[in-house]
Amino acid sequence: MTNLVEKYREMKKRGEKVTALTAYDYPTARLLDESGIDIILVGDSLGMVVLGYEDTTSVSLDEMLHHTRAVARGVKSALVVGDMPIHTFEKPAQAVATAKQFINAGAQAVKLEGGVSHAAHIEAITDAGIPYMAHIGMLPQHVREQGGYKVKGKTQSEAEALIADARAVEKAGAFSVVLEIVVPEIAKQITHAISIPTIGIGSGEQCDGQILVTHDLIGLFPWFTPKFVSPEARVADEIRRAACAFIERTRGASAVSKRPGV
Ligand code: KIV
Repeated sequence: MTNLVEKYREMKKRGEKVTALTAYDYPTARLLDESGIDIILVGDSLGMVVLGYEDTTSVSLDEMLHHTRAVARGVKSALVVGDMPIHTFEKPAQAVATAKQFINAGAQAVKLEGGVSHAAHIEAITDAGIPYMAHIGMLPQHVREQGGYKVKGKTQSEAEALIADARAVEKAGAFSVVLEIVVPEIAKQITHAISIPTIGIGSGEQCDGQILVTHDLIGLFPWFTPKFVSPEARVADEIRRAACAFIERTRGASAVSKRPGV
């Protein structure tokens, strides 16, 4: 555990950007790993982009473990991080038990959403020797209470709370911290305030690294793309194109074979 904290602190000192993407299945994980990504997160965004739920609040531990096992089978070099779903870390002891299940499923580290409020949970996980990635800012597991995916750090008190969260997760032993849709200026302040890398998603360019949901990056979930994402590919269009070509080829062939004498 200490080694991973040291490794990521050193990366930050050297100014090396941390790259992270999500994966939920074997082929995607293997392709990302072969591309040289640092971290593969089996995110609970699984619920939305793979399982078709409205948000991440319906994702179960069994679903996360099933997909973590698939990802782990495809990865040789990247760090596989398992995302602990809602209601699986209510108390520190439960957080440790859940984290151990992710490790048994093939993850090398875990993530859960929360800052100061979860310092004891995080400390229990890191004390158990399990590497931990923090997640502060917009917390999708609380989207319903928060009334949507809203930018965090707009007010002085929100900004101060975020900096306190970042310091708390660092003290509790996190090796890195995801900042989700945080005002870029505040993300920059957090980045300067702590010695572990900040990994931004929709939080500007001043973070020590970046993470994205792969489906957003490759255009595989065309029904919704967050404003801050610039897709690098249009995989959904390719799937539709290939499916249409197959349908046409198949129907065309049957039309030909039904012709008398053919
Ligand atoms: O679940 C997820 O994919 C995440 C990332 C958005 C950071 O938590």
